[in-house]
Amino acid sequence: MLKVEEQQPVQFSAALIEKSEEIVKRYPEGKQKSALLPILHEVQAELGWLSPNAMDKIAEFLSIEPIEVYEVASFYSMYFLKPQGKYVLEVCRTGPCCLVGAEKLMDHLEKSLGVKENEVTPDGLFSWRGVECLAACGYGPVLQIGPEYTFYENLNEQKVDDLIQDLRKK
Ligand code: FES
Repeated sequence: MLKVEEQQPVQFSAALIEKSEEIVKRYPEGKQKSALLPILHEVQAELGWLSPNAMDKIAEFLSIEPIEVYEVASFYSMYFLKPQGKYVLEVCRTGPCCLVGAEKLMDHLEKSLGVKENEVTPDGLFSWRGVECLAACGYGPVLQIGPEYTFYENLNEQKVDDLIQDLRKK
């Protein structure tokens, strides 16, 4: 069963509709489905995440089936299918980073932020999650922080705490 926030009606702003129409025009006639990835980014940037209602609206906009939107949005980890904090801390959880402490770092995040993976802190500022290789395997543990995807390498618990403090001060 969908949670309340997942059932909220979705309204796209005029600016988002205009931007999405501009994106669709980049592709040949009848190939509007090719605009799906960039439009998912735009919608997520505006709404913060991709609710089922938002994905249904995208499907309607592109004249494709909702399942075509769901399967793409659920494949890529850069799309959020649940509400996230203002800052999303994404820790690489692939083998090489685990060998140098990525799992310890995720345990630390759970304790210091007080929320489990993909949950949001009560102040709405943070969520965290493990993601697959971030392509900096020689510099682990690494994490990136969305939505801008700033990158941090050679991390330890102290550096992560400092990072969180800096973000709180912003
Ligand atoms: S394994 Fe962590 S960046 Fe590649």
